[in-house]
Formats: sequence, C-alpha cells, structure tokens
Amino acid sequence: MKIDFANLQVQYQKYKSEIDASIHGVLKKSNYIMGEEIKQLEAELSTFTGAKHAITCSNGTDALLLALMAMDIQPGDEIITTPFTFISTAETITSMKAKPIFVDIEADTFNINASLIESAITDKTKAIMPVSLFGQPADMNAIQAVAKKYNLKVIIDGAQSFGATYNGKTDSNLGDISTTSFFPSKPLGCYGDGGAVFTNNDEYAEKIKMIRVHGQNKRYHYKYIGMGGRLDTIQAAILLAKLPYYKKELGERERVAKSYTNTLTGNLTLPIIKSNRTSVWAQYTVKVNNRDEVQKKLQDDGIPTAIYYPVSLHLQECFRYLNYKENDFPVAEEASNCALSLPMNAYLTDDNISYITKTLNNI
Ligand SMILES: Cc1ncc(COP(=O)(O)O)c(C=O)c1O
Repeated sequence: MKIDFANLQVQYQKYKSEIDASIHGVLKKSNYIMGEEIKQLEAELSTFTGAKHAITCSNGTDALLLALMAMDIQPGDEIITTPFTFISTAETITSMKAKPIFVDIEADTFNINASLIESAITDKTKAIMPVSLFGQPADMNAIQAVAKKYNLKVIIDGAQSFGATYNGKTDSNLGDISTTSFFPSKPLGCYGDGGAVFTNNDEYAEKIKMIRVHGQNKRYHYKYIGMGGRLDTIQAAILLAKLPYYKKELGERERVAKSYTNTLTGNLTLPIIKSNRTSVWAQYTVKVNNRDEVQKKLQDDGIPTAIYYPVSLHLQECFRYLNYKENDFPVAEEASNCALSLPMNAYLTDDNISYITKTLNNI
C-alpha cells in the first residue's frame, strides 16, 4: 500500500475545476500584484477567523517579521518563546537584532510551558511569542495573564494552526498580533509561499499594510522602513478556491487523528488536545523511544513519517552565541529525541489508517 504524507496531488484533483478557474481569472486580468483577489481573500480570512483585520503576506516567516516591525521591536529587546519550533519563530526575533529567550515546553502538548514564562522576564522583555505547535494553541489564558501583569505584547506564531481554537475563539484573535503560513503542506496551503497576519488593533493593521509594501503610505512616499512582503494574486486566488472546503477538510483531519488515537497501542505517547482547545492537526505527532528503528521499519513498509524537530533551537549552531547548553530545556530535548509525525491529510482512507496503525502496533 502506498501512503502519502500530505497528499497535495489528491487534494488538487478534488478541487481542480475551482482552482483552475480561479487561477485563470487572474491570468485573464493579469492583475498579478495586489489584485482584487487579495482584498477578497483578506475579507474571507477575517470572517473565517473572527479577527478584525487579516493582512496577507509573502509567507509565515515574513508574517512574524511584519508583527515584530509593527511593534517596533528594538535591538536588545528580549522576546520569550519556545525552543521546540521551526527556526522562523526565533530567526525573525534575531533578524530584528532582538534576543530570543527560550523557556521549556509542556510534555503533553509540545507547546511553551506558560508556568515558566514569569521567571524568564527581565526589564528588557517586550513580548511573548507562543507557537500553536502541530495545530493546537498554547495555554493562552495563562500567557495573556502574565503578559498583562508585565505589560508585554503577545505575538502568536500560528503558522501551523489556521482555524484552531482556544475557548471557542480562533488563535488568530488571541494575540495582539497573530500570524499564519499558507506553505503548501500547511492545513490551508497555497501553491507556493504565502502567509497572513491577524490583529484586532486598527493601528497595527494600518502599519502592517504599509510595512508590507516597503513602508509606503502614498505611491513613492515611505512612512516606515518596510519590506517587499506581498502575497501574489495567483496564490490568493488558489486560497479563495480552497477556503470554502477548509472546514470539511478539518473534519477529515479530525477523523484521521481520532482513528489514530483510538487504535494505536504499545510504547507510544499519543498527542493530547486540551479540553478547551481544538487542533487543526497540522501534524499527528507521537513520542517513541526507539524512534530511528521505528521510522526505518515504517519506511520499509511504505509509510512515510517526519521528524519535527530533531534539534531543539537552543542547541542549534546559529544560536550558540546565546550560551544555552544541553539539559537547559529537558522536555524540549526529550521531544526532539522522541517525536515522530505520522502521515496526516484529509484523504487517508480507513484502510490506509488501519494499515499504518497495524504496522506501528506490530513494531
Ligand atoms: C512554527 C512555524 N513558524 C513559522 C513558519 C514559517 O512559515 P513559512 O515557511 O511560510 O515562512 C513555519 C513553517 O513551517 C512554522 O512551522
């Protein structure tokens, strides 16, 4: 049996007529840069998430940069975040010449451990940047409480969690600014690079829109130092064609996750979704001690898996200057040694899932 990890081709075939028509609409108009599809998509993203402002941009990394630039983060400012995430989360902090301050994660959700944040705060701390890892928001009530106590901003890196909720609200609403990525394999993906920034704050929204286009407030007049951070109109058109099916796709991802959870046994730690949250299941990630052996055996049986993330950020060469060392964040380090993500997409059949779980249970 051949199992696909993300199954982008099957998804395209399913929505081909809508996606092709939407792309051709842009080709006909040749409105490749900031065409009307961008505005239309932003309106639909705002409705979907409940965030007052949805501002599309070039990718999920630039979305984080736009958030940090809008907050006027300065060299030497400290931003507290998780070491168990994709590089962009901390990379963008350093791009601003600010300093990422890592705190350890929770063993059950892989997300930042909110109870450790307070002890990492100094007089240089400006913001907290939680990540909704693998599709589930972090403990936002606790994070917001500490942010309020110390007058800190909250930026949510929601690259993996578009549509995920915490106490009934999407995480696009839960930070001063939140972001997402539309990288092709993300739960809602386009066919190239794409991202978005969300905020309920009018001033941030205005500033982000200008920074996205080189800080321009009037043609060839520049109020801020900005960047070339626009989303292509063609990518917006693809997302417009896919968005109406997204809720259904999330339901299918939930079906796959539930099946995994109900059938997997043995020496695995299964992912936990907290009762006040939903996950969009960007990944279904288990923890297993003999990971290399398990991964190899699954691969031999035609089951692709992925390791997110093999080295915690505090131990990466590029962050050596921060002087972290092994055992500083034992829970993140354990996750980097044991986490294994199973195939996850809306098109895994019951037979596929049964084959994957049986194979894994037999190892
Ligand atoms: C947690 C996290 N943050 C940021 C990003 C960056 O998104 P992009 O690849 O669209 O720049 C990703 C992408 O994988 C991610 O997983």
